[in-house]
Amino acid sequence: MTYKIALVPGDGIGPEIIADAREVLEKTAEKFGHDFKFSEYDAGGSAIDKHRMPLPQETIDGCLASDSVLLGAVGGPKWDGMPGDLRPEKAILGLRKELGLYTNLRPAKIQPALKDACILRPDIAERGFDIMIVRELTGGIYFGERGRNETGDSAYDTERYSAYEIERNARNAFEIARKRKGHVTSVEKSNVLESSRLWKETVHKLHESEYPDVTLDDMYVDNAAMQIVRDPSFFDVIVTSNMFGDILSDEASQVTGSIGLLASASLGDSKRGLYEPIHGSAPDIAGTGLANPIAAILSAAMMLRYSFDLAEEADCIENAVNTVLEAGWRTKDIAAPGAEEWLTGSEMKEKILDEI
Ligand code: IPM
Ligand code: MN
Repeated sequence: MTYKIALVPGDGIGPEIIADAREVLEKTAEKFGHDFKFSEYDAGGSAIDKHRMPLPQETIDGCLASDSVLLGAVGGPKWDGMPGDLRPEKAILGLRKELGLYTNLRPAKIQPALKDACILRPDIAERGFDIMIVRELTGGIYFGERGRNETGDSAYDTERYSAYEIERNARNAFEIARKRKGHVTSVEKSNVLESSRLWKETVHKLHESEYPDVTLDDMYVDNAAMQIVRDPSFFDVIVTSNMFGDILSDEASQVTGSIGLLASASLGDSKRGLYEPIHGSAPDIAGTGLANPIAAILSAAMMLRYSFDLAEEADCIENAVNTVLEAGWRTKDIAAPGAEEWLTGSEMKEKILDEI
């Protein structure tokens, strides 16, 4: 099969890890007889430098014309002083909105070979965990009305949700739970926020009418934040709002201790998705060769699985990564404390290529 893949390398370590992921995709295509056609587009700080805007129209059009999008990361200290509308982050927010990607899947799990990296008590790390955070991505306070008063010394942002937005995201959570352990935890702050009360009501209505076979429970976001560090094995699927999902997914990923391994997917109504590692642009290590390409490579695998329905090909990439990790190969970010030797990012990529 032929697939058009838009690559958006972005800033910092983005270009390095996307180049590595592309090589892995190319080798996979060769092995399984597919034709992946790649086009590269600018976004983020590098687009600001080149085009004076974080998300050029050409990038939006190119992504819309592709079968799926693989993104590196955007942002860096160089552009921190830019005004709100010209920040690199606008590129990500704009792509989510333009591509209609309203659900963000953020897995946080401990690879058996990396239990030692988990920052929790050893007995809890030993139990392991595998959480899928289903974050609403195009609504809530991120896209609500915001502004300042005339004198500029008072500001507001609005958390607003429609039942429609809550429901379409929750449906994805229930569908995913059916393919996992069948347990959804809806996370909100309904003891305080009206939008959270609508959230809870809507999730329960959908559960009763279409997903009674899935176990559903509710948790306030502050309690969920505690539960993630107390015993994350409680969770299977978490469904939550844009802002809460942003925070909880970073917390959960950090608890694994191996954030360089975690991929994510943003999905909408069409098969086209946006896939990206969750670790960000890490400008401090850009160009040093230290960047771990695994999260980008696993993002590419997620793309094959969710956007192209190429499960066997995705398994092949994931198994290659597992084999390399189980053989003990490590990049610096996941090396044992005190270790003196590790692979560079591109050596890690070569090890993975050898297994495909
Ligand atoms: C993320 C990032 C983005 C977000 C930023 C870059 C806008 O933190 O993908 O989690 O807050 O959604
Ligand atoms: Mn975030």
